[in-house]
Amino acid sequence: MTDTLSDLAFAVLTATDGDQKARLSVENAARWQNAEITQIGFAAAPDRPGRPERPPLLAPAEMPRRRGVSDKARATLLHAVLHIELNAIDLAWDMVLRFSDQGMPKAFFDDWVKVGAEEGKHFQLLQKRIRKLGFEYGDFPAHDGLWEAAFETRNNFAARLAIVPMVLEARG
Ligand SMILES: [Fe+2]
Repeated sequence: MTDTLSDLAFAVLTATDGDQKARLSVENAARWQNAEITQIGFAAAPDRPGRPERPPLLAPAEMPRRRGVSDKARATLLHAVLHIELNAIDLAWDMVLRFSDQGMPKAFFDDWVKVGAEEGKHFQLLQKRIRKLGFEYGDFPAHDGLWEAAFETRNNFAARLAIVPMVLEARG
């Protein structure tokens, strides 16, 4: 059976490991962009994307402060952005999947696949950077509210379009 774009989106969303999710996001986007996959197909979007066991997810008020100029302080900040990139990956593919049966034009899917690829690359670059400091994604607690903010807008198209730049990336 040939994969459809929906299958590719579902695979990214359900991947639990951060590195694997980012790699799938980049690779699956390339398969669509190279026209190796041409059918949109359909699959139901999961309510929550796959997540690794670490990092622990904390309420915003419980998040440790990011202070100072040590490697650890720098890594803490990088980690917060990594967490946002991971959510942005899922948000992009969630858009693909959620609108897979809505008769949207190909350009709509092209755009969100491109966003998925870019967010995947951001995650990979930041992961490389934080590893040079001796840490990786999962080593610090992360904000538990990001996916909820994304998920609450699932039925509001305009809010969905605004949430990555205005809420997720802005918090980073
Ligand atoms: Fe990003």
